[in-house]
Amino acid sequence: MKLKRFKNYQELSGFAASEIANSIKDKPSLVLCMASGETPKLTVELLVKKLKEEKIDHSRITFIGLDEWVGLLPSNTGSCHYFFQHKLIAPLQLKASQYLLFDALADDLNNECEKMDTFINDKDGIDIMLVGIGMNGHIGFNEPGASFSNLSHVIELDEITKSVGQKYFTEKMELGKGITIGFKHLLNAKKVFLMANGSKKAEVIKKTVEGPVTENFPASIMQRHENGVILVDDEAASLLSKSH
Ligand code: GLP
Repeated sequence: MKLKRFKNYQELSGFAASEIANSIKDKPSLVLCMASGETPKLTVELLVKKLKEEKIDHSRITFIGLDEWVGLLPSNTGSCHYFFQHKLIAPLQLKASQYLLFDALADDLNNECEKMDTFINDKDGIDIMLVGIGMNGHIGFNEPGASFSNLSHVIELDEITKSVGQKYFTEKMELGKGITIGFKHLLNAKKVFLMANGSKKAEVIKKTVEGPVTENFPASIMQRHENGVILVDDEAASLLSKSH
């Protein structure tokens, strides 16, 4: 695992967008899995801009949505689906065969998980995973205690996730479960970027980078990934010991 520090959110996002765009140039059939949320917002905007301005062929990429709140309509502006659809899939005019998002309204959620696992396997795994980190150290909806060997799964959300998650919605939401890609896929991904910005993420970044590797603090799994890169701005890095 490596760590890269940036002066601010803009620089961090610019770097992540360029890394992905250049990887698509090198491998037009790139499989990209990404989180939604506040952190990757600017990265996606810059990525779309770069692909269009530089006319980088993205007609063969595959996109995979990392997670979703169970029970939400895709039209809910706080859903991950809405984010992916409006920020990436529509602007890049991806064809239906080019992406897969969890259907969090499906009657059979286990089947949704199997569908996702099969899709990933059929694509020979994920090339780049771009994830954020929750205030409890979760990645996607891999909550504290979730096994590092999980494939896609449905999980009961913990209290921190349910309360912090309110920020995505215009009115109070009853949040119960999440559906997410599991850590087995993360460990198998060829490259993983974990991004964090702002002083509110400083504590969880310190634990991710310097704490013990444990399922009780999910993001610590990054220490196990040879091609894992933590991208942080100065504020999120503010509690790290000087040696990084
Ligand atoms: C959310 C999502 C994650 C996301 C994380 C951080 O609940 N399940 O995929 O990366 O929490 O979100 P944010 O970037 O808004 O801080």
